[in-house]
Amino acid sequence: MNTQIKKITPESLQEAKNIIFEGGVVAIPTETVYGLGGNAFDDFAVKRIFEVKGRPNDNPLIAHVHTDYDLSKIIDYDPPYAKKLREAFLPGPLTLVYPSTGKVSPFVSCGLDTLAVRVPSHTGAQAFLREVAIPIVAPSANLSRHVSPTSARHVFDDFNGKIPLILDGGDCTGGIESTVCDCTGDIPVILRPGLVTKEMIEKVVGACGEYVPDLASGEKVKSPGVLYKHYSPRCKTLLFTDGNAAKERAAAERTAGARVAVLCENASVSAFVGTGVTVLDLGKTQTEMAAKLYGLLREAETICDTLIAVEPKEKDGVMTGVLNRLRKACASEDIPHTRK
Ligand code: TXA
Ligand code: MG
Repeated sequence: MNTQIKKITPESLQEAKNIIFEGGVVAIPTETVYGLGGNAFDDFAVKRIFEVKGRPNDNPLIAHVHTDYDLSKIIDYDPPYAKKLREAFLPGPLTLVYPSTGKVSPFVSCGLDTLAVRVPSHTGAQAFLREVAIPIVAPSANLSRHVSPTSARHVFDDFNGKIPLILDGGDCTGGIESTVCDCTGDIPVILRPGLVTKEMIEKVVGACGEYVPDLASGEKVKSPGVLYKHYSPRCKTLLFTDGNAAKERAAAERTAGARVAVLCENASVSAFVGTGVTVLDLGKTQTEMAAKLYGLLREAETICDTLIAVEPKEKDGVMTGVLNRLRKACASEDIPHTRK
């Protein structure tokens, strides 16, 4: 299959629509990361997404809709706090999880009794969603476990020859995936941190919980995605909280003959200059670090054997999401005791 990258025009949108209604998948830009989109009502298309990505079949997908989509077509339970969250943050990088009504393909939610819905703010995503006028399920457009894509080129690198069309909407400005927030209980509960932070949600609705899976109890995990190794470059990755320890390890790796790169915030860059490693500068502000993270992880795998990552000092706000991704990118395996 020939994979085309096309700018968003009336013609490419029509072509994308045709592919979607034939049961195919199309890569689309969003403000967070690129997604691999398919018709949420079409069992075949949904299964195809899992197949193309190599995604574990217990990890559910998010349905994407345009700003005027009538949500009552796919959900019925809608607590007042969810309405407030939609008014405050949508369209934008916040996904809300509602009780499922069984309207979309059963393969979307992988056996969970909930459905995740997102209204992206990216103008190209909105144009596409209006064109098709149906919910589109779209996981991040990367091969399973690889680094998420923030440009059309990243998608091409993972799916060249495997999908027909990538709609090119430029580089993603957000850089990490949407905040996933459970809206099935008395208060919203964050299942995956992102650009809409706990602090921002609390300001709008008061209380907001944070989900921590209780693995010991054997409970059914609310959001299976939290358990998997993710976002990982194809090189050895090591994460440090302490800059000196990172520096020592970088030197040891170099002595052993490895090409070494260091990923750190701008304030730490000077500590590594002149040590023979390539420094990948995440930048200064929290939003800048989110926007640059995946591009630099993808760059790392092309230039080094060992990536030494150093945790930025700030841990709150958007950094909760950035650190969540960085820790998973550098994890050695899935969270123990969860996979056979
Ligand atoms: O920003 C984003 O959310 C991007 C763009 C493309 O929209 N999409 C994305 O999709 O990150 P994906 O499939 O890579 O991640 C979806 C996450 C997973 O952690 C999954 O477990 C969780 O959302 N999820 C999906 N449906 C869920 C549900 N019904 N209940 C709980 N978690 C759900
Ligand atoms: Mg993903």
